[in-house]
Amino acid sequence: MAVLVTGGAGFIGSHTAVELIQNGYEIVILDNFSNSKPCVLDRIRTISGGDFAFEQVDLLDREGVENVFKKYSIDSVIHFAGLKAVGESVSMPIRYYHNNITGTLILCEMMQKYGAKRMIFSSSATVYGTPKSVPIREDFPLSTTNPYGETKLMIERILSDLVVSDGEFSISCLRYFNPIGAHKSGLIGEDPKGIPNNLMPYICKVASGQLHHLGVFGNDYDTPDGTGVRDYIHVVDLARAHIAALREAETRQGIDYFNIGTGRGYSVLEMVKAYEKASGLPVPYEITARRPGDIGECYADPSKSERVLGWKAEYDLDTMCKDAYNWQKNNPNGYEE
Ligand code: WQD
Repeated sequence: MAVLVTGGAGFIGSHTAVELIQNGYEIVILDNFSNSKPCVLDRIRTISGGDFAFEQVDLLDREGVENVFKKYSIDSVIHFAGLKAVGESVSMPIRYYHNNITGTLILCEMMQKYGAKRMIFSSSATVYGTPKSVPIREDFPLSTTNPYGETKLMIERILSDLVVSDGEFSISCLRYFNPIGAHKSGLIGEDPKGIPNNLMPYICKVASGQLHHLGVFGNDYDTPDGTGVRDYIHVVDLARAHIAALREAETRQGIDYFNIGTGRGYSVLEMVKAYEKASGLPVPYEITARRPGDIGECYADPSKSERVLGWKAEYDLDTMCKDAYNWQKNNPNGYEE
């Protein structure tokens, strides 16, 4: 039986594919390359020393998705595929709702039709909106501030209704905090299109001289140094959480939710210093205005993931920065086709 990895050529998907293969799983990667490159596939093979099936399919292509379920014996799905740029989602909400929601509905329809009743869903800490306090627990109130986050919350609710209607499903929603870094080989990593929105890839390009300086989005938050605090987690730790979640989902039916973070927050200025130390390169910055929609402080209480999944993040901030630097140094222009 195989695990279908939708979006498996992407940043988190590719790192998870490596871990799945190295843990003996048979996998099928489905990707439409809308935010990834074909060269990633051979790099996954090189790192893992294993092979896998690949299907270039868009989840909106119902016939194409059904053909994948006809062709392979799929019993589980790890669902990464989706548009994920917060700012872009505000400017094109219909595209985000159609792509992320309709794509997931088609996927779930085919899972039910072909008896694949286990799913690990790539959710996000963004479903907590502006938390009432930190650290954040899974039972905190849910709200969103942008269409991207709303698609994640909507999909969680769709999956909850699916489980009520069909008790054979076992589903886990993993709420990611801030994934950064790269596999230690430097062969796979984060490859944002154009100017990065997220902090770490932006810092990497400033340090490498590709961008002039970092704009620090506000230093007047209620945090130790006034800059935004987030729970940064190594992408390999995040990938390993999916293996743990898959194993746990095999033991029960129903749906559950897990925070995937380290439980430790770092500020923007702490990230700048950490990257300078890890890379030996300066990261010039200027304090600028707050970014609309940003919150001051967000970090996880990961104790439920540790208790129920038997998973805990292992890599520290220095390793996250060293691995991010190694990826940037070996791939200054990302995955060049
Ligand atoms: C981190 C911190 C910024 C860039 C987003 C999405 C979330 C998830 C992860 C998908 C904040 C500051 C950033 C810059 C800065 N994505 N910053 N200058 O906003 O916490 O989360 O990515 O699931 O859904 O919302 O991550 O990396 O954009 O920002 O000062 O040029 O760095 O203000 O404090 P964020 P981020």
